[in-house]
Amino acid sequence: MRRLPRAALWLPVLTLSALAVGLTTAQSQGAAPAGDPLAIQAGPPDAKRGEALTQTCQGCHGPMGHSKDEGKPSLGGQVPSYLTLQLAAFRAKLRPSPVMQAIAARLTDQNIVDLAAYYGQQTPRDAWEANAALRAKGQQFYNSGAVERGVTACVVCHGVDGRGNNALHIASITHQSPKYTLEVLHEFKSVPDYHVAYPNAMHIVTAKMTEDELSAVTAYLSSMGTNSMNMAPASK
Ligand code: HEC
Ligand code: HEC
Repeated sequence: MRRLPRAALWLPVLTLSALAVGLTTAQSQGAAPAGDPLAIQAGPPDAKRGEALTQTCQGCHGPMGHSKDEGKPSLGGQVPSYLTLQLAAFRAKLRPSPVMQAIAARLTDQNIVDLAAYYGQQTPRDAWEANAALRAKGQQFYNSGAVERGVTACVVCHGVDGRGNNALHIASITHQSPKYTLEVLHEFKSVPDYHVAYPNAMHIVTAKMTEDELSAVTAYLSSMGTNSMNMAPASK
C-alpha cells in the first residue's frame, strides 16, 4: 500500500487558522481548543515514565526503539523534538498512517514528551549493511550535495554524524532501513512545493535529486556509523 506523503502535514500547519476553524466545527464542543493542532502542553519530560509506556510500542519498533522490521522506523536515538512533533502530527491526523494515528490518539501530551525523552536517550540500533561502492557515492553526496543544481549538502542540516539537531527539529537519519529511508525520500520528493524554505527543506533538497543519488545517499545513511569491516561486499 502506497502511503500518502508525510510531509503533507506541513500544508495544514502553514494554513493554520483555516484548519483550526475546520477542526473545531468537526469536533464535539469542549474538545481540543481551537488553535495549533500540534501544540503540546506538558511538564518536564520524564524518560523513566516514558520507558514504561513503550510496552505498547516495542512489538513494532523493537526494544529500546531498535527496529528489526525494515518497514518500521527505529526510534532509538531519534531527536526528542522530532519525535514529539511526529506523535502530535499522527494524533492530529495530519501525518498519514492508520496504525500510528490510532496509537497516538490514546497518548496524552505528557505521554508524548515522556516517550520522546526516553527514545531520545537510547543509542541508535546497529547499522544496516550496504554495498560499499554505492555507499561511497552516497557519502560524497551527503557531504557535498550538488552545488551546480542548488542541492544543499545533507551534512549542513543533519550534521557530520547524521544525528540531526534537537533545537532545530532536524531528524536523526542514520540507522533506518534502506527500504524505509528510500520510501521517505520519495515521499518528500513527491509532495507539492509549498514555497516556504523551511520546513519545506526536504522537498526542496530531494526535488532535484536523481534516482541514483537517492539510492546512494540511502545506502550511506542506513549504514552510517559502521566501518568498512562490517560492510557486505555486494548486498543491495
Ligand atoms: C502496530 C505497529 C506499531 C506500533 C504498536 C507502534 N508503531 Fe509507531 N510506527 C509504526 C509504523 C508502521 C510507522 C511508520 C508510519 C509511516 O510513516 O507510514 C510508525 C512510525 C512512528 C513514528 C515516526 C518515526 C519517524 O522517523 O518519522 C513515531 C515517532 C512512532 N511510530 C512512535 C511510536 C510510539 C511512541 C509507539 C507506542 C506508544 C508506537 N509508535 C507504536 C508502527 C507501529
Ligand atoms: C535545510 C536543511 C536540510 C537539508 C539540507 C537536508 N535535510 Fe533532511 N530533514 C530536514 C528536516 C528539518 C527534517 C525533519 C522535518 C521533516 O520531516 O520535514 C528532515 C528529515 C529527513 C529525513 C526523514 C527522517 C525520518 O525519520 O523520517 C530524511 C531521510 C532526510 N531528512 C534525509 C536527508 C538527505 C539524504 C539530505 C541530503 C540529500 C537531507 N536530508 C538534507 C532538514 C534538511
